[in-house]
Order: sequence, then C-alpha cells, then structure tokens
Amino acid sequence: MQGFFITFEGLDGSGKTTQIKRLAAWLQSRGRNVVLTRNPGGTALGERIRGILLDSRTEASTGAITPRAELALMFADRAQNIAEIVRPALAAGSIVICDRYTDSSEAYQGGGRQLGADTILAAHRTICDDFQPNLTILLLPPLAASLARARRRNERHTQQHGTDENRFEREDDGFYARAYAAYQAIAARDSHRVVLIDDDASIDIIQQKIIAIVAERLGLPA
Ligand code: TYD
Repeated sequence: MQGFFITFEGLDGSGKTTQIKRLAAWLQSRGRNVVLTRNPGGTALGERIRGILLDSRTEASTGAITPRAELALMFADRAQNIAEIVRPALAAGSIVICDRYTDSSEAYQGGGRQLGADTILAAHRTICDDFQPNLTILLLPPLAASLARARRRNERHTQQHGTDENRFEREDDGFYARAYAAYQAIAARDSHRVVLIDDDASIDIIQQKIIAIVAERLGLPA
C-alpha cells in the first residue's frame, strides 16, 4: 500500500483535534494503518521544543521569545518529525495524519507575527527539503466563532487546572485576524493540496465532508 500524508490546519478552537480522531478511526475501520503526530511535538526532541515554546510565552524568567527564534524552533521540531516519524511511516505504507505543519508557520509566524510568507516558504525549502503533504484539511470557520470557542475552552481549562493553556488570550484579535487571512491566502494559492472547509457546520457534517474528500483521494468507498 502507498503511504499518504495528511495535515490538519486551522486556528486554535477550529475543531481539528476531534476531526483528526474521527478520521483516524474511520481509516482504521477501512483497514489502513494510521500514524498520528503533531507539530510542535511528536518526537522526544519535539516535545522538549514544544515545552520551550509554550513556556516561553508565560515565563518571566525566559522573557518573550522573538518571532524569528519562535520560527526557528518550529522548524527544528518539524525537521526532526519528518525524519523520525513522517518519512519512515510513509515508506512503510501508513497514512500519516499530522496536527499542524508548515501552513501553521505561514499563518502564525508569517501572518500573525508578520514575518511574511516568503520567509516561511524559504525556511521550508532549506530545512524541510520542501516536503509537502498529499492533502491538507484546513478548518476555517468564521473567525468570531473560533475565537469564542477557543476562549471558552481556555476558561474551562483555567477552572479545572488553575492555569490557562498558555496559548490563548495572549495574542490580540489582530494576530488571529492576520493568521486567518494568511490561511485564506494559502488555500487560494495551493488549491489542489488544500481543501478549505470554512462553514460553521456541526462536527458530524464536517466529519462527513472530510471522509468524502479523503475517500476520494485514496480511492476508498466512503
Ligand atoms: P497546540 O496545542 O498544537 O494548539 P492547537 O490544539 O490549537 O492546535 O499548540 C500549538 C500552538 O503553536 C498553536 O497556538 C499554534 C502554534 N504554532 C505556530 O505558531 N507555528 C507553527 O508552525 C505551529 C506548528 C504551531
């Protein structure tokens, strides 16, 4: 069987995690081997990098991370993940589903932090050998809906754990609006690779859409 590389993208609160779990279960029910991973994280080195990235947003001792340092860490994580997880799994014929990939860098560091798309695309060529997913599912419900959902999730987390998730409400709405616009630009530019799902439909309806797309690309019955 041929390997296939799927990435999921979207703003925080877009419902990626739920949809990834459901797609993985569906693919397994069709007899496919699925490897799940994420950026940042997924490897031992990547999880350490993830810790630095998430801590650096809150810890006074380390100070705020600069946009280029943040970008470099994202790419260090990604290079390791590709070498250690993605390429070997694809070579073994698995379907790899990665929660975020270079489009996240283009949206968050390129758009949100205003480094620009070209900087990110150049880094991807240099550090990741321009290694591209076969398919990217971009979940982009209207901005106001994702912001509200992510804030609710963060509040729930704060109530349950006494700390926030270190990743939300720290950026202003302008940051997310720029990231959103960058995602839209990626979808328009790479329309063959990227499938944009931008309505605010229910979890079940979006799941059906995703399964239909993946089934078609893989030649499986939906
Ligand atoms: P994560 O827990 O993966 O968030 P989510 O569940 O919303 O996917 O946190 C990763 C955070 O890092 C998220 O806010 C997006 C951000 N990020 C970047 O800024 N650049 C990147 O290249 C990647 C992969 C993630």
